[in-house]
Amino acid sequence: MVSLKNKTVFITGASSGIGKACAEEFAEKRANLILCARRKNLIDELAEKLKEKTKVFTIKLDVRNNNEVQKVVESLPEEWKSIDILINNAGLGRGLNKLYEDNVEGWEEMINTNIKGLLYVTRVIVPGMVNRGKGHVINIGSIAGHEAYPGGGVYCATKHAVNAITKSLRMDVLDKGIRVSTVDPGMVETNFSNVRFYGDEERAKNTYKGLTPLTGKDIAEAVVFCATRPPHANINEIIIMPSVQANTFVTSRKQQNL
Ligand SMILES: NC(=O)c1ccc[n+]([C@@H]2O[C@H](COP(=O)([O-])OP(=O)(O)OC[C@H]3O[C@@H](n4cnc5c(N)ncnc54)[C@H](OP(=O)(O)O)[C@@H]3O)[C@@H](O)[C@H]2O)c1
Repeated sequence: MVSLKNKTVFITGASSGIGKACAEEFAEKRANLILCARRKNLIDELAEKLKEKTKVFTIKLDVRNNNEVQKVVESLPEEWKSIDILINNAGLGRGLNKLYEDNVEGWEEMINTNIKGLLYVTRVIVPGMVNRGKGHVINIGSIAGHEAYPGGGVYCATKHAVNAITKSLRMDVLDKGIRVSTVDPGMVETNFSNVRFYGDEERAKNTYKGLTPLTGKDIAEAVVFCATRPPHANINEIIIMPSVQANTFVTSRKQQNL
C-alpha cells in the first residue's frame, strides 16, 4: 500500500456526498486537499473540520465553465500546483422522464457537468502530470455507464461517455507514468436523488425505501484503494453496488439487517 501523505489531491464536487466523503477519507491519510464546488461555504466548513488533519485549499468552481476551470487551475499557488491525484466527481442527474417528454435544460446540465466539466478539468490538470511523469486520474462513473434504464437516457449517456473517456485517456497516458481508474457505484444515499428530483425530498427518500444503500464513505474507501496500489498496479474499474441491488432494475426491497 502506497502512502498518500503529502500527496496533492484535487476533488471536484467536494461539498456533498461522495466528493465530501473522499475529502474526509483522503484527509485521514494525510493527503493535502484541493476542494472544489460551487457552494464555497460548504467546502470552507469542511476545510475547517479537516484542517486538524491536513492542509486544505478551497476553490469556488463551476466545472461547466471552461474559462473558470482554466483560470482556477493556472492560478493555483505554487505549493498547490503539482497535483498527484485528480478525482473527477462533480456530477448530477436531472429527472427520470421518458426521453420524448423530458426537459431539455436538464439534459444540458447533465451533459455540461458530467461530460464537458469532467473533460475541462482533465484537460487542464493532466498536462502537469505528463510533465512530471506521474499522476492518477480517478473518475466517478456509475452503473449507469454500463447499463441503460427507462427515463435515464441522458444520464446513462453521460456516464457511458465517462466510461469511454476513462478507457481512451488510459491509452493516451499509458507511457507517461499516469494511472486512470473509474469507480462506478450503484445506489449511494447522498444528495443525488434530491437534485435529480428538483428538491422533492419525499421522492428522493423513496429511491432508497426498504433497502440499505451504499454510503459516500463506501465509495471513498474504494477510491482510496485505487490510489494506494503500488505504482505498477492500476485498478481500471471498480463497480460497487449495494448488496441488495443486482443491477439498475433488480433490487430486493425487503428490509435487511446489513
Ligand atoms: N448517488 C448515487 O447513487 C450515485 C451513483 C453513481 C454515481 N454517482 C455519481 O457520483 C458523483 C457525486 O454525486 P453524489 O451522489 O455525491 O451527489 P451529491 O451529493 O448531489 O453531490 C454532487 C456534487 O457535485 C457538485 N457539482 C454539481 N454540479 C457541479 C458543477 N457544475 N460544478 C462543480 N461542482 C458541481 C456538487 O457541488 P455544488 O452543488 O456545491 O457545486 C456536489 O458537491 C456524481 O458524478 C454522480 O453522477 C452517484
